[in-house]
Amino acid sequence: MLVNKAIFPVAGLGTRFLPATKAQPKEMLPVVDEPLIQYAVAEAYAAGMREMIFVTGRHKRPIEDHFDMTLELEVALEQAGKDDLLKVVRSVKPDDMECIYVRQPQALGLGHAVLCAKRLVGSQPFAVLLADDLMVGDPPVLKQMVDQFEQRRASIVAVQEVPAEQTRRYGIVVGTPVSDRLIDMTGIIEKPAPEDAPSRLGVAGRYILTPGVFDEIESQPRGVGGEIQLTDGISALLRREKVFAYRYEGKRYDCGSKEGFLQANVELALAHPELGPGFREFLRGLDIFDRAND
Ligand code: G1P
Repeated sequence: MLVNKAIFPVAGLGTRFLPATKAQPKEMLPVVDEPLIQYAVAEAYAAGMREMIFVTGRHKRPIEDHFDMTLELEVALEQAGKDDLLKVVRSVKPDDMECIYVRQPQALGLGHAVLCAKRLVGSQPFAVLLADDLMVGDPPVLKQMVDQFEQRRASIVAVQEVPAEQTRRYGIVVGTPVSDRLIDMTGIIEKPAPEDAPSRLGVAGRYILTPGVFDEIESQPRGVGGEIQLTDGISALLRREKVFAYRYEGKRYDCGSKEGFLQANVELALAHPELGPGFREFLRGLDIFDRAND
């Protein structure tokens, strides 16, 4: 059973990044030199997925344009002999990758966004990637999850330890460890207060789900924040089938927050083959590291 389809819910308003997101989608904000959404799409591609389903909303056209062919640009680069740049432009959407767009007419929550892709997904297992969570891993985090899926043939949710005071930001899972990194889930709850959190294992924005989750989401009442929550659909699903939580190997940057976004920019710039060395020198030259100035 191949996981070939990936859903990218990208209809959100991005209010946490205003005014930067007043007239452009937050998913198009660049981390170093690539927009956030491109990291998530590349991760899905590296995990073997070829059908990318974007659940979009109004004002999200730049995302469609980004993954479209830019003929004028390609011709101009070709004529100018800028082969390296041409390669960069063409690599955004490899030829064997298909991009499909569906609208989420109202912002009714993450579960609702996923449900908008139900007909496009059909009866196959699929991935969900939240572009806000920029994941760096080797192998890529979603690829690690696909490997787990192939062994277990059951839904897999990415998790990480989160500080006790931050449980209100995450879906929190509970279950029985079955191996080093895998937990057989017995429960999942969306954004509990620390005193109600059953564990400190928070869900990161990567999921591989069986199609049974669609029916479960459909039958859910509105949950936390008055929204139709993906977490609630998964909670119902795990009463019918096995669902595993997977402690991924790698690092997550919460690019839905300004702090995480800045951290991603700094660390990915430092790791960038061309920019890294110079940027490191620049940072070294800042007197912020001079303890005497504190
Ligand atoms: C969503 C999910 C939450 C998950 C989080 C990961 O919340 O509802 O369960 O832990 O993504 O980033 P959001 O951050 O969209 O509020």
